[in-house]
Amino acid sequence: MDGNGRWAKARGLPRIAGHRAGVKAVRAVVEECARAGVEYLTLFAFSRENWRRPEDEVNALMVLLEQYLERELDTIMKNNIRLRTIGRIEEIPEDVRRTLSRVTDRSAGNDGLTLILALSYSGRQDIVDAARRWSEEVARSGKTPDALSEEDFSGYLSTSGIPDPDLIIRTSGEMRISNFLLWQAAYAEFFVTEKLWPDFTVDDLREAIRDFGGRERRFGMTSDQVKEETESG
Ligand code: IPE
Ligand code: MG
Repeated sequence: MDGNGRWAKARGLPRIAGHRAGVKAVRAVVEECARAGVEYLTLFAFSRENWRRPEDEVNALMVLLEQYLERELDTIMKNNIRLRTIGRIEEIPEDVRRTLSRVTDRSAGNDGLTLILALSYSGRQDIVDAARRWSEEVARSGKTPDALSEEDFSGYLSTSGIPDPDLIIRTSGEMRISNFLLWQAAYAEFFVTEKLWPDFTVDDLREAIRDFGGRERRFGMTSDQVKEETESG
């Protein structure tokens, strides 16, 4: 979700007004994903690098996050949404964390859309943390390192149990991954739109999904092989 600041600047408003407008776009996109039967939606809400922003902006973002959770709890329950988080959650202020775990616990039994909030998230840090957890496990259990597979390693990432993303949408026209799901995005399809996040609508989401539907995903194979596979069912 990128472009909140630019959206505000273009209107002569403070950056926080852009973040507030961004929350409205979040609400619309989450409800549409739940309605349309999307199984997993990950929102890159706050990166680990975002701590470097001015203190005022960081604080305002934390307040917005907490308000969003408080206000959306009913909608989350009504729409059968399960909330999860990824990232260094221990770095999030304690009061916000408490609200997060309340919503996570309350919605744990829901089996519709899994909404994943990436908070204090860094793709590289996620990989390093996974390597640490894995090596602790090796030391403890005496497992041999050469037995480690990609699939095993995925289980140590904060996205354990969540499938890799099929589609990554980036708003505001930036052509970069910015330390999002580095490992998990290996074969994700990218959709970049010039629209700033607060202007991103349900129609834009539908367009991204339609566009995704027309992509040929080869996963290293040839086009002929992929066609053969789909024909043989
Ligand atoms: C994205 O919008 C929202 C968050 C990081 C929370 P930005 O705040 O990055 O907006 P720009 O890039 O300055 O326009
Ligand atoms: Mg930005």
